[in-house]
This record gives sequence, C-alpha cells and structure tokens, in this order.
Amino acid sequence: MIASYQALSQNRVNAALDGLFTAPSPELDRLYDAMRYSVMNGGKRVRPLLAYAACEALGGVAEDANGAACAVELIHAYSLVHDDLPAMDDDDLRRGQPTTHKAFDEACAILAGDGLQSMAFSALLDPNLSSRDAETRLAMVHALAQAAGPAGMVGGQAIDLGSVGVKLDQTALEYMHRHKTGALIEASVRLGALASGRADPIRLEALQVYARAVGLAFQVQDDILDVESDTATLGKRQGADIARDKPTYPALLGLAAAKDYAVELRDQALHALSAFDEAAEPLRQLARYIVERRN
Ligand code: IPE
Ligand code: IPE
Ligand code: MG
Ligand code: MG
Ligand code: MG
Repeated sequence: MIASYQALSQNRVNAALDGLFTAPSPELDRLYDAMRYSVMNGGKRVRPLLAYAACEALGGVAEDANGAACAVELIHAYSLVHDDLPAMDDDDLRRGQPTTHKAFDEACAILAGDGLQSMAFSALLDPNLSSRDAETRLAMVHALAQAAGPAGMVGGQAIDLGSVGVKLDQTALEYMHRHKTGALIEASVRLGALASGRADPIRLEALQVYARAVGLAFQVQDDILDVESDTATLGKRQGADIARDKPTYPALLGLAAAKDYAVELRDQALHALSAFDEAAEPLRQLARYIVERRN
C-alpha cells in the first residue's frame, strides 16, 4: 500500500513542483537550472507524503495540500543543497548525482538554496497550489518559518556543525535531531492538516504527537543507514557521518539500541493515531516505512 501511495503522491507533488522552475529571463537560466536540478532529482518526497497523508487523515482532499507539499519539499531541497556545501558536510553525492555545488559551483548552489527557500513561502500563497482562506495561509506560513528558521532546522544545523568531534549526551543529541530534521517533518504534518480545512485543536494535537515521534525516528534511521546501508542504495556517501565523527544515535547508543529506539518512536507515533479512523492509514504506513526504509 505504501508503495502505491508513495508513487501517487510523488507524481502529484512532482507535477506541482515542475511548474515552478521557468526562468523569467535568459540571464537567470543557470540559477533556475540549479534550482530545478536540486529539486527534480528523485528524492523520496517523505515530507510531501506526510502533508498529503495528514490532510487525508482529517478527511481532506489530498490536492488541497499541494501548496503545503511543495513548500516543505522546497525547504528540504534547499537545506540539502546547503548541507552538502564544503563549509558544511562537504558531500559530493546526493540522490545518486553530483551535489549542486559540484554540478554547478558553490556560489550558484548558495543562491539556488536561497531561491528555493523563498519559493517555498510563495508556494503557500500561490492560488494555483493552495486555496485556503488568508488566516489559514498565515498559520501555514508561520509554522513553516518557525520550522525552517533558527528555532528549527537552521538552529539544528548550527548545533550539528558545532558538534563535530564533540561527545553529545542523549538529551543534546535528541535536541539537535528534533531541530535539524524533526521540525520540518512536524511542519509537514501540520501544514497538511491545516490545508485540509478540517483541523480542530484535539486532532491537531494528536497529529503533533505523531509528527514529533516520526520526525525524530526519521533522523535516527538516517543515522542508522549511514552505518549499515551502501552508497548506491542511499544515493549519498555511506559512512559520511563516521568519517566526519558526527554525533549520531548509533555512535552514542550502538547500532542495536539505535534500532530499538527507532521502533519505540514508531510505536509512539502509531499510538498517537489511535483515535483516528481508516483515513489515517497512510500516516500509519508512513510511520512504519520511516523505520523500515533502506534509503
Ligand atoms: C535526508 O533527507 C536528510 C535528512 C534530513 C535526514 P531524506 O532522506 O528525506 O532525503 P531525500 O529527500 O529522500 O533525498
Ligand atoms: C541533514 O542531516 C539535515 C538537514 C537539515 C539537511 P544530514 O547531514 O544527516 O543529512 P544527509 O545525511 O547529508 O542527507
Ligand atoms: Mg548535515
Ligand atoms: Mg549531510
Ligand atoms: Mg545523515
């Protein structure tokens, strides 16, 4: 089920994203090419899937979450372009292809990332992608800004880069992961829920508990895959964290305990959905997929 849901949702978000990269003038072809290259290059589209699934869990229509789905993927793509830069993780492979700064150049990659970030907010306000009232869109913009910015992903990345070779305890590691990765995953669920037009405080809170667990589980699994997957399957360099002495869950707890923790988080996520009906099945499947995935 998850494979067909994934394919359907990937097609939906890819079609919506594809329309965003037409340069307004030939001078900007290279910048737009770099943005397109950074987004339309595969990727599991987990964040858009979560947005669609959260919208549907509340009885909404998936297409209503197109703006949310594009926005979270654009922020994610920007974060990856910058994460791979020489000043950050210095990686040359992403989604099985040269990283953006390798395929273009560093300045172009920095600007492409900047551009993608702004485009994310535009996507939430684009009437072709999102038709909610102004108040709902404002709530979506606010949630995304909080999740992407210094109180979210950017803050987490700052801690990550400041922690190379440093031994973090589990509290500090969890804080870092919840920010660098969890925040955007939580926003994906929240934006999808808001896009449904059917969000109520009780169900929003339950979805928040779900997303918090899934967001941390996602990065724990990312750390696990750095240890036990391979470069071809991952589409990014296996062992990059180990080589750079990054603080990770397997490094802190050992591989077996890190896996147990991912499963525990999955169960927390599933428990949070216990009051939801069939419509939350894609969200449940996604929680399972996130700790079972091999790339
Ligand atoms: C990788 O994210 C970076 C993290 C936040 C762990 P994904 O594993 O979602 O990467 P893509 O989008 O599928 O390439
Ligand atoms: C990235 O974490 C989190 C981001 C905000 C991009 P990682 O550095 O672990 O992601 P990968 O492993 O390079 O995809
Ligand atoms: Mg990183
Ligand atoms: Mg990285
Ligand atoms: Mg990683």
